[in-house]
Amino acid sequence: MIAQLLVPRHPVAEWTGWEERVRLMVRPRRYEHVLRVAELAAQIALANGLDDMRAYAAGILHDIARDLPDAELLRLAPPECDIDAGHPLALHGRAARVLLERWGYQDRVVLEAVEDHTTGPRGGNPVADCVYIADVSEPGRGVNADIRELALRDLNAALERAIVSKVTYLQGRGIQVHPRTLRSYHALPCVARQDQGGSASPLTARQP
Ligand SMILES: [Fe+2]
Ligand SMILES: [Fe+2]
Repeated sequence: MIAQLLVPRHPVAEWTGWEERVRLMVRPRRYEHVLRVAELAAQIALANGLDDMRAYAAGILHDIARDLPDAELLRLAPPECDIDAGHPLALHGRAARVLLERWGYQDRVVLEAVEDHTTGPRGGNPVADCVYIADVSEPGRGVNADIRELALRDLNAALERAIVSKVTYLQGRGIQVHPRTLRSYHALPCVARQDQGGSASPLTARQP
């Protein structure tokens, strides 16, 4: 089943090809992180009644471009903003999607989760939420255990905590927030309700 998701329209045997391709493209410690993210993303998905197979697949693929040189990231994913141009590492989610599409990967849900894991899920794709939370809270990071535990009970609450705290942290220090992260912030149900009600949230008000 996982093989069919990872390699649509290809034989099941080729699944091992994807795992091996990821392993060869990232540093050994990164690959360990990738395996932990995939496992945790699948656990979070299962606990929330979501598609654990796609969550696992996206976890395996999410950092495939993470260890590419800056020049390659910029070539694969041209900058959309000053942050991208100044910090090409911010592009590794978009670059990963481009690579996977070039290699024939076609599952849109998984591709979107891979693309959005760096800056935040765009909303409407729970698999992307699982991968984003798993990436920031997998045990090897040594942080965000509270978010990990919350996600196993209430994924939406965990996502809200992760994104609101990230935006609050950055803005509190005068650091520009990536436009895609702001999009994730405004896609949160709690913020969308505020937006629709016509009252700007405190974070929006502080955004230059
Ligand atoms: Fe990443
Ligand atoms: Fe990661």
